Amino acid sequence: MSPENRLPKIAVILGGKNGMLGRALTTAFAAAGVRAVPASHADVDYLDADALDDFLEAQQPGDDEDTADLCLVNTVAYTQVDQAEDQPEEAYKLNAALPAQLGVVAAERGHKLVHFSTDFVFDGAKGAPYVPTDATNPLSVYGASKLAGEEALLSLDVPGLLILRTAWLFGPGRMNFPARMIELAGTRAELNVVDDQHGSPTSTTDLAALTVALAENGASGLLHATNAGEATWHELAAETIRLAELPCRVNPIPTSGFPTKAKRPPCSVLDIARTVQLAGYTPRPWREALAEYVAGLRNESGGR
Ligand SMILES: NC(=O)c1ccc[n+]([C@@H]2O[C@H](COP(=O)([O-])OP(=O)(O)OC[C@H]3O[C@@H](n4cnc5c(N)ncnc54)[C@H](OP(=O)(O)O)[C@@H]3O)[C@@H](O)[C@H]2O)c1
Repeated sequence: MSPENRLPKIAVILGGKNGMLGRALTTAFAAAGVRAVPASHADVDYLDADALDDFLEAQQPGDDEDTADLCLVNTVAYTQVDQAEDQPEEAYKLNAALPAQLGVVAAERGHKLVHFSTDFVFDGAKGAPYVPTDATNPLSVYGASKLAGEEALLSLDVPGLLILRTAWLFGPGRMNFPARMIELAGTRAELNVVDDQHGSPTSTTDLAALTVALAENGASGLLHATNAGEATWHELAAETIRLAELPCRVNPIPTSGFPTKAKRPPCSVLDIARTVQLAGYTPRPWREALAEYVAGLRNESGGR
């Protein structure tokens, strides 16, 4: 007997029109037969509860359907990690106040809610992959604001709430670390990249498919969601340049050689064992996903 399919009929994806992950989710939900409704701030002021209520009302399932058939998927976030140090109010507004408000709206309206958080809620002191129940201790405003968003949501009674912590995203739609490395390698013979920060590179396409699988299986709670494997920024950059076949040397440097405004954890690799159980499959290694992404970029640029 096949398990019950718990996919919603409608997925309203905040950030789905312009966001990197939001676009991938819009494609993935639609491919799974869900009516995906991507939204941008031009469609609805996310922070205005009444406007959001009206917007959701307009997407409401038909009379014969339940409000639980609609899932609100939030990818909106203040994601500029260094800039957040100077704009904590903006970061907290989008990363903490907004999810809290979405939680209230979802609970009141009876909608499911999927929200995304980050590996930067951890300080990296563990030195091994983090499980979702590990103690948090963010080192940056971005990490602290995302943690505040998680905590606000978890304190509310939102039935079926799913929070997915992810990391080091790359994918079509906007600038990201591998795309930036390719851009820089086009004009430089050498790149110096940090080799003492470890994380979980993740394809937005694969994360979107994983999110759909988790929704299909009715997963809820706080989970970690990334591709398989881990890397340093240097390993990710070197593999990107190798796949792109660019004549650029990628040199490893310590974090001290590349000072940034926001402090980053030395090791924020996420353990996805529980997610693998709930999804029913293991996401492919990040190198495979990266190869597909880089091949797509090369096709777009005419094979250069
Ligand atoms: N990118 C990563 O490497 C990474 C790593 C770990 C976790 N995450 C989490 O994954 C989720 C999706 O990330 P993403 O990289 O796909 O997000 P993104 O593309 O940077 O942004 C998603 C949406 O947030 C809104 N937004 C972003 N910055 C804004 C600002 N300064 N002011 C107002 N609105 C802003 C925009 O909405 P509109 O569409 O309305 O313009 C944008 O489309 C987020 O929760 C993020 O915290 C990301």
